[in-house]
Amino acid sequence: MFSAERVVPRDLRAAVTSFTVVDTASSSAVAAAACAIGADGIVPGFEYSVDVAAEAAARLGLPHLPLEAAALTRDKYRSRSHLAIAGLAGPRFARIADRRDIVTAASQVGFPAVVKPVDGCGSQHATRVNSLVELQLAVERAMRHGVVDMGREIGHVLLLEQYVEGPEYSIEGYVGRHGPRVLAVAEKLLSAEPYFVEMGHIVEAALAPEHRTALVAYVEKVAAKIGLNLGVFHAEARMTRDGPVLIEIAARLGGDRIYRLVELSKSISLPEVMIRSHLGDTDPAPLCDARHATCVSGVQFFTHVTGRFAGAAAVERVRATPGFEEVEVLSHIGGTVLKLTDFRARVGHVLFTAADRPTLDLRLAEALKALKFDHADNGS
Ligand SMILES: Nc1ncnc2c1ncn2[C@@H]1O[C@H](COP(=O)(O)OP(=O)(O)OP(=O)(O)O)[C@@H](O)[C@H]1O
Ligand SMILES: [Mg+2]
Repeated sequence: MFSAERVVPRDLRAAVTSFTVVDTASSSAVAAAACAIGADGIVPGFEYSVDVAAEAAARLGLPHLPLEAAALTRDKYRSRSHLAIAGLAGPRFARIADRRDIVTAASQVGFPAVVKPVDGCGSQHATRVNSLVELQLAVERAMRHGVVDMGREIGHVLLLEQYVEGPEYSIEGYVGRHGPRVLAVAEKLLSAEPYFVEMGHIVEAALAPEHRTALVAYVEKVAAKIGLNLGVFHAEARMTRDGPVLIEIAARLGGDRIYRLVELSKSISLPEVMIRSHLGDTDPAPLCDARHATCVSGVQFFTHVTGRFAGAAAVERVRATPGFEEVEVLSHIGGTVLKLTDFRARVGHVLFTAADRPTLDLRLAEALKALKFDHADNGS
């Protein structure tokens, strides 16, 4: 058992009245803790607690997602099946619960394909496979070395999907009384395949207006079909030659500082919209103008596969650069160099704003150069 003092950062502790440590895998424990403090709402803080938060809020009669909708977002196979029945565009897909399912799944889906856990996040065990042999190896790896992430074991049941070709976007929105509404679209920078590590995000994405309109309309339809009735959503989709195709949809804030990029570029606080909504406000973003941005902002993550950290003086130089917002160099830098297969290989980030995209790209690139990290290990 941990004490709140030990697990919660000091600045966060200073910002709130009290903390209670609770087992976020247990909806009854969360409901009991929320009841004890007289909570007016329960919001999920992470992917694995989306269904738990909904169940706990339902027990207490607080605003909550339909339990079925929460469950659908927590299982990529179930959400694909649900959306396919609803007639939405999506890739061919098949479930692999056992090694004996591999050949059938491969014949249903074909190659190239992507194999990933049905219930994972952080791109853990998400791998592109181009042949049956590569699929067998990837399944073996995932099933043997299932990951324990935040106390959850993932990787036992996998999803094989047709590879969706095209640039990828994160679509951030909320659900109010008029249904789902997108507030921002972020462009995603990915690592080199066969893995899909998120190496950066840019808000607002540089998309042709007609493509943005199609993407937004498609994702709002997806959110409605999943049955989301409140809170925020974070969807990921690729723009293919035939239009947008969903990668996944989550009923929570996007990670990776995306909410901060939206705040900087569009003066919209997604956390505030989320909390208002979970408190029962059916119009939690009345003044938010999804089309208006005052600047472009971007975050870029780095690994130390290619570079050697330049030290504290370089961090100070980065801080002094125009448009600077954040630099983070994690303490495990200098430790074991992890292969760039998922988010755990990232050792820090820089976050900047600029008046236009070329200036932003330059600022991010120069910051990485100053820290002696570069783009060489990014596939983008
Ligand atoms: N069918 C697909 N076609 C092409 N790329 C895919 C496909 N499925 C997944 N990917 C790539 O793999 C990445 C991770 O997949 P997905 O988002 O489903 O898993 P995740 O572990 O929940 O990821 P994260 O938590 O990092 O968003 C996607 O962002 C995308 O780049
Ligand atoms: Mg994802």
